[in-house]
Amino acid sequence: MNDQSNDVDGTETRTTTRQVLVVGATRGLGLALVEEYVGRGAHVVATERTDGPSGLRTIAERHREAVEVERLDVTRPDQVAALREWLRGRTFDLLLVVAGISLAPRDAAGVDIATADFTRMMETNVLGVMRTVEGLDDLVAAEGAVAVMSSGQGSVANNTSGGFEVYRATKAALNQMVRSYAVRQSSGSRSILLLAPGWVRTDMGGPGAVLEVSESIPPLVDTVEAQRGRPGLRFLDRHGDDVPW
Ligand SMILES: NC(=O)c1ccc[n+]([C@@H]2O[C@H](COP(=O)([O-])OP(=O)(O)OC[C@H]3O[C@@H](n4cnc5c(N)ncnc54)[C@H](OP(=O)(O)O)[C@@H]3O)[C@@H](O)[C@H]2O)c1
Repeated sequence: MNDQSNDVDGTETRTTTRQVLVVGATRGLGLALVEEYVGRGAHVVATERTDGPSGLRTIAERHREAVEVERLDVTRPDQVAALREWLRGRTFDLLLVVAGISLAPRDAAGVDIATADFTRMMETNVLGVMRTVEGLDDLVAAEGAVAVMSSGQGSVANNTSGGFEVYRATKAALNQMVRSYAVRQSSGSRSILLLAPGWVRTDMGGPGAVLEVSESIPPLVDTVEAQRGRPGLRFLDRHGDDVPW
């Protein structure tokens, strides 16, 4: 995935590799995003929460020139600050924050969740993700994109089936926080994207999910790339269609 700049006579003068920063990339959708971007020729900095063997480490071994692995737990503001400092001077075309957790069974009533689990889900999916966005966004090019993995379940308007009550609440809260963030960025030229990848067979999505990763991530990346040069906030599914708030 390269950007080509041309002289006025049309001769190519410069080719630059897309620079992508993926937060929460050890497995599942984050890992698939790393693989997809590397496959499209991008250079990727990808984060892991803890060290040790992972799908990400395997990909990074296989693509040493294209993938760098850094440490980030989104619930650790000190680690957000350290990563920001470590990457000082770098510019990314795209920041993708994918990290997220779901701790309660599908059919559990929201009020039955342990308080510690509720707090941990909110801390990770909302506060941690937003601190990561706000802490790293000045590494993103002025015309670049900040993309956050939301969920169709974050749509309040579409919630007619219930289920995953607290998880839904975290993604709805995340959407609201990103909307407020976008208001503060409204004079800027970056794309700000909330993404709904569909229900996908990962550790979180489970074996009953309707989509393979390979059915979700390539169209999702097409959708992100189609937003290049389009400033402002959108909540989009993998096909690029608006998701009702
Ligand atoms: N799968 C679906 O159907 C689906 C649908 C809609 C939205 N989503 C969203 O897509 C994102 C990825 O989901 P997934 O299905 O790929 O889930 P997953 O397979 O459970 O992977 C979750 C990823 O998030 C990382 N993570 C968790 N807590 C973190 C933290 N505190 N700091 C940094 N990274 C952390 C995990 O790292 P570790 O390996 O270290 O735990 C892992 O890499 C989530 O935000 C999820 O809500 C998923």
